[in-house]
Amino acid sequence: MNTSITQSCLPALLSFLNVSSWYLVNHKIFVLLMGLAVICIHRLYFHKLSRFPGPRVAACTSLYYMYHMNSGVFPETCERLFKQYKSNVLRVAPNQLVFNEPSAMRQMVNLTDVWKGDFALRVIGFAPTTVSDIKDPQAHRRKRRQLGPGFSNAALAIQEPEAVQPNVNKLIQRIKESVDGVVNLSDYFDCVTTDNVGALAFNADFGMLDRPKDHEFLHVLPDVLRWSVVIQAVPILFKFMKLINKYGPGFMTPTPLRGVVDFSRKHLQIRVQRDAAGEKSNDIMSVILAENEKVPDSEKMGRYELLGEATALVAGGSDTVATALTLIFWHLGQNPSVYQRLVRDVRRAFNTSEEIDSHKAAKISYLKAVMNEAMRVTPVLPGPMWRRADHTIQVGEHLVPPETDMGVVRWCIFRHPKCFNEPTIFKPERWIEDQGDDLTVAQPFGVGPRMCIGRNIALMEMRLIVAKLLWTFDWVPITKQYQNKEYLVQYRGPMLMKATARKV
Ligand code: HEM
Repeated sequence: MNTSITQSCLPALLSFLNVSSWYLVNHKIFVLLMGLAVICIHRLYFHKLSRFPGPRVAACTSLYYMYHMNSGVFPETCERLFKQYKSNVLRVAPNQLVFNEPSAMRQMVNLTDVWKGDFALRVIGFAPTTVSDIKDPQAHRRKRRQLGPGFSNAALAIQEPEAVQPNVNKLIQRIKESVDGVVNLSDYFDCVTTDNVGALAFNADFGMLDRPKDHEFLHVLPDVLRWSVVIQAVPILFKFMKLINKYGPGFMTPTPLRGVVDFSRKHLQIRVQRDAAGEKSNDIMSVILAENEKVPDSEKMGRYELLGEATALVAGGSDTVATALTLIFWHLGQNPSVYQRLVRDVRRAFNTSEEIDSHKAAKISYLKAVMNEAMRVTPVLPGPMWRRADHTIQVGEHLVPPETDMGVVRWCIFRHPKCFNEPTIFKPERWIEDQGDDLTVAQPFGVGPRMCIGRNIALMEMRLIVAKLLWTFDWVPITKQYQNKEYLVQYRGPMLMKATARKV
């Protein structure tokens, strides 16, 4: 009897349950779709940014922005969209605006009461907070005061001969040793600038120039930047990954996101141990530590914070300068008359390679012009530097509502036809004689309170390295096409040139 009831009822029960679970699933999907539709309608028609032009899909979801960040051509995409929408402002995500407006540098970036938005935070994986991502303007000012003396020209004048010159000489030696003189300058510059950061910041030898083809840190930083900017394009995803990094098993955090922090931690530990053993170091860390002693206890940096700053130095100080140098040599290779004039000026200024230092090289005005023009026409950081304000601000003719993430696309304004004649042409002469260009717009190191703290270091390294390499070798370009993707900084591909001993 029991068996027959079970046999007859069970299929009916199961089919009832089946129908019901399908109903529930469908119902949930329906509710979800309705929810998404409501969000999209709100973002398209009722959001504070709905009046700004841009792709409709970008207004609905950050995935559009993430997709273009991942493609590595976000600045070029913006350039195309500015033309397509015939507008100097675009909405590229639900809460993000980008501008192609030269005055934005002054009206948005050069303000003391704007802060960096979510998209400017944590560009180096899950590093502790650094000067680069402190949000609060007052705390940031305090931190800049603490770090500033380590980056001053006075500190660098002492460090250049001890820390930087030996690495540049080693670079020259490595190039001389290369079999046929063909070198991938992108990697060689990565090695010399990272070794320079090691020497300047930690009084350490990172050893990149000893293994320029297979050092474990080679290419680590560009990959960290790539992962960071893509994940951060959707802030909630970044927060989730951060929690996983903190509480989850190690294997769940992609290795590139740990790379720079692990490397910096290792070198900071060595540096702190040397300090404890009473060894004296003449580096940026010692200036930072000395400044740290002077401030009240409440403002002192702990070990974790120091790790953050160490990471910022490694990250900010190497890849950027390597990219600038690679682009300078690329442009020299493509512009024989510029190359010849610069070689002539450098060789006239110095009788021996040993004489060359960055201070004397600064007097060669054409060298400065070439460096400025390379960083203008192919900016090292071509995308927007994101900012946010808690009040309405005016950019060009637009009023930007509070709490909007806004950025100026440097790729576009550095090549803006309103500011530069023949804007995409590499013409260092524009920096020497007045050609009617508005040169103040091209600010490769940024402007305002958040402008690059390492500017003096970068310029010192660039002057020294370009002058020494042009003094020592004749150069012929091998790479014929050179266009990089960008993940905050240009993501450098190989750039080959052939070096031979100079003939004259
Ligand atoms: C050609 C080389 C370089 C370029 C083009 C460059 C560019 C920039 C730019 C545009 C900013 C401002 C970002 C913003 O406005 O949001 C910046 C900030 C910064 N840079 Fe550089 N940089 C270079 C070299 C360096 C070097 C050598 C170091 C350190 C040794 C460094 C460390 C930093 C740090 C720590 C910040 C954050 C400053 C702050 O928020 O107060 N940079 N850099």
